[in-house]
Amino acid sequence: MSEKYPFSKGLAGVPAAETVLSYIDGERGKLYYLGIPIEEWAESSTFEEVALALLLRRLPKREELKMFNAALRSARELPPEVVDFILDMPLDSHPMTVLRSVVSLLEAYDYDAKLDDLEAKFRISLRLIARFPTVVAYFDRARKGLELVPPDPTLGHAANFLYMLKGERPTDYEARVMDVALILHADHGMNASTFASMVVASTLSDMYSAITAGIGALKGPLHGGANERVLRMFREIDSPEKAEEYVLAKLARKERVMGFGHRVYKAYDPRARILKRYAEELTKRSEYYQIALKVEEVMIREKGQKGIFPNVDFYSGLVYNGLGIDTDLFTPIFAIARVAGWTAHVLEYLEDNRIFRPRAVYKGEIDKRYTPIDER
Ligand code: SDX
Repeated sequence: MSEKYPFSKGLAGVPAAETVLSYIDGERGKLYYLGIPIEEWAESSTFEEVALALLLRRLPKREELKMFNAALRSARELPPEVVDFILDMPLDSHPMTVLRSVVSLLEAYDYDAKLDDLEAKFRISLRLIARFPTVVAYFDRARKGLELVPPDPTLGHAANFLYMLKGERPTDYEARVMDVALILHADHGMNASTFASMVVASTLSDMYSAITAGIGALKGPLHGGANERVLRMFREIDSPEKAEEYVLAKLARKERVMGFGHRVYKAYDPRARILKRYAEELTKRSEYYQIALKVEEVMIREKGQKGIFPNVDFYSGLVYNGLGIDTDLFTPIFAIARVAGWTAHVLEYLEDNRIFRPRAVYKGEIDKRYTPIDER
């Protein structure tokens, strides 16, 4: 059956929406939020400012940022029934399973979810951004049998997350590293999880359903789940001397090396460059860092000419590991940042909404006869 538009598997290269939020120059390895290079955001901004800028689609004024910060800090706590739900989750649940389940449940405790105006959706967006760290930290403490650490309103977003996770205040350096990591993961054009959130929102469903869909999409190893697998790969490789053989064997088996390749970047992911520097500082060129360097060298030698380079997931795990964070929390940290991009894209798209409804290329027969079961 011929279609009006050419078929593109996985919608590769197909523009699905218009946006001003972020732009990826895949050939040159550049990323811009609101037209400003990611390197400038990482150098000069905070996650709170990036989140508000994405929601407003412009740089916020001082007073707006002050109010947003205050609203975030006062919205971090969870309804007690939701805390109980977290404590009742099977302790061996994957933290992404907990996050997806809790976000879905939170709708039932949010009056704004009954309203369908964009202002209500903005308030829900702020609440979600504020609460993702609380959900992740509470579950991690619970599964370890540790006391929950309530949010500290005197701490910024990144510092408070580390505080709730570890039960002690991070150093300024640790807080800054986490803050930059969140900035780098906040938005990235029409990636799978953002698209999933937008598809759900385009039916005029609620924001909680849209973000739950985004979490589900990010959980996959081809998307946000890669960072966790990269660190497991370093553990499997075990020493820098074994890295080349490991990578070549994987490639020979036509397997994907996690943390490499990208649908849009055909150059080095600019976020990976920044995370690589923090990984070197934090790990002090540890064995894992040496393994990472070797894997990168072999992969670029073998696949660089095909446009396959490190992506954001390759060094992020080393940074989080360097901050003493468990491997299965890496993807939830990605979600803690990307909920800003998910909600911003949903709000932007809903201003001129059209339900997503692509086509499929039908490859079957038509006008066949229904054969009774005894004749089959
Ligand atoms: C993220 O979209 C986004 O912006 C995502 C993200 C964001 O911020 O939201 O940037 C975050 O998800 C980063 C990507 C994390 N995922 C991984 O690191 C998993 C490993 N990467 C691959 O699975 C893959 O590169 C994808 C999924 C990221 C991209 O897949 P594509 O665009 O569909 O590419 P493809 O599967 O068509 O591969 C093209 C060729 C193939 O070789 P041939 O069959 O043509 O010979 O490149 C090869 C692939 O085998 N290839 C790889 C590879 N990635 C692609 N070979 C080995 N290792 C890899 N990692």
